[in-house]
Amino acid sequence: MLKSLHRTSRKMLLVGCCAVANFGSTASFAADGANGKTLANRWCSSCHVVARDQKLANDQAPPFASLAKRPGFDANQLAFFVLSPHPNMPSLSLSRADAADIADYIATLK
Ligand code: HEC
Repeated sequence: MLKSLHRTSRKMLLVGCCAVANFGSTASFAADGANGKTLANRWCSSCHVVARDQKLANDQAPPFASLAKRPGFDANQLAFFVLSPHPNMPSLSLSRADAADIADYIATLK
């Protein structure tokens, strides 16, 4: 009786440990397009058209769908661009993960 209880709790510990490890790797390595969409709506939609159903935007800022359709579009490059300050765009101080998520979302608009 005691012995089997011990075994069960060890199993649970193992499962818990793997779940944590998995979560960690998703958060740091894989971009999350759904989060990118939320971020784009919040931070970019005042100037850019960030979604197909969006009507209002600044006519100087290119729509995100047109960025995705450009030949040679590269999500990594875009994430890098978003992190570096440039003229006509406010500095948004996004984290690397945020920028990657936004780039991942833009890539889905192709
Ligand atoms: C205050 C308005 C404004 C906001 C907010 C804004 N942008 Fe821009 N963005 C611009 C303008 C204007 C340009 C065009 C700059 C130019 O052509 O010199 C631009 C250009 C870009 C480009 C480059 C397009 C190209 O031609 O290569 C990217 C990528 C971009 N924005 C991404 C973003 C993202 C991602 C966000 C949100 C995190 C964002 N922008 C928020 C105004 C804005």
